[in-house]
Amino acid sequence: MRDNSRVISPAPPAVAAAALLRDGRLVAFPTETVYGLGADADNAAAVRKIFAVKGRPPDHPLIVHLAQSQQIAAWGREIPPLAFELARSFWPGPLTLILRRQGHVSDVVTGGLDTIGLRVPAHNLALEMLERFGGGVAAPSANRYGQVSPTTAQHVRDELGAGVDFVLDGGPCNVGIESTIVDLSGIEADGSYEPRRAPAILRPGAVTAEDLKAASGISFAWRSASSPRAPGMHAAHYAPRCRVLIATDSAELLAYARLWVNKEAVVGLLDFGNIDSLTGALLPELVQRIRLEPAPGAIAAHLYQRLRDADNSGIEVLLCMLPEERGLGVAIADRLRRAAGQGSAGSDAT
Ligand code: TXA
Ligand code: MG
Repeated sequence: MRDNSRVISPAPPAVAAAALLRDGRLVAFPTETVYGLGADADNAAAVRKIFAVKGRPPDHPLIVHLAQSQQIAAWGREIPPLAFELARSFWPGPLTLILRRQGHVSDVVTGGLDTIGLRVPAHNLALEMLERFGGGVAAPSANRYGQVSPTTAQHVRDELGAGVDFVLDGGPCNVGIESTIVDLSGIEADGSYEPRRAPAILRPGAVTAEDLKAASGISFAWRSASSPRAPGMHAAHYAPRCRVLIATDSAELLAYARLWVNKEAVVGLLDFGNIDSLTGALLPELVQRIRLEPAPGAIAAHLYQRLRDADNSGIEVLLCMLPEERGLGVAIADRLRRAAGQGSAGSDAT
């Protein structure tokens, strides 16, 4: 008789992913925000491959992903109480903390900075992979440098192909835009800081300034970038192939629409319920509507997919108006500005 108990079933994908990471290979994995392109953060040769596959300049620091918030002590030093407070409130979740780094952390991961970005993602498969792996996983978004971040496993396969050893498929990301990044590296271990080194938001995301204030009592400033490796210094980021134009009001939107239709461009309009019916009626018929559900959470969740849709349907000029810049609307407006190549102070890029 056959002894079925000896049949070895294939390892679950997250276990296989952890084994590959241990082996120095690159694994794309889902998070609640966007897909990451991961490598063992303790293996400099593996991390270098991330930069090669993405085409990313080597001085751009990577976020290290952890399974448990207690692990921050292994990566950060002189950690202020605020870091633990925010970790308790928002992890697992779409928040990255910038802390002073431990001496063992590779310059390849931090781009030579004395600080490190850390995050515990809120995605079961990612957490299972990170638990199994045990260490930190350095990962930027799994797109080529400057392009729109991937929110499905297929986006990663389409864009990075054979450059990735394994894509862990966790379905579409439910937040859909990159994590909020807060800089706590100016705070001393006793919680004090000089005014110019106050806690700041470097990139807005789904953990909003309002959320941070409610959890900590602190009003985080939005700090504009001051060096090329800090978020925000590159013009064309999060950019689809099509040209994105932001209109400040309905009259400008109509003017743009008419101008580009007259130039015989293929024109699209990103519509998340913020185009009034009169404006809609006055738009040239040739303008293709790309619709998003109006709730900010829904806009964020599907924004990058819709930018890809616009490219795939041959749209050359994509018009939009910004949402109200409050709560999650701040992050959505930031990404639309970046897609338009306008950049915005303090926002990231890669
Ligand atoms: O949601 C996210 O944050 C996703 C998922 C995969 O976790 N990751 C992501 O990584 O968006 P990336 O590399 O595409 O963007 C992270 C940005 C970098 O561009 C860099 O500017 C900033 O985080 N960053 C990382 N470490 C930093 C540090 N030590 N100081 C300042 N900025 C840092
Ligand atoms: Mg990125």
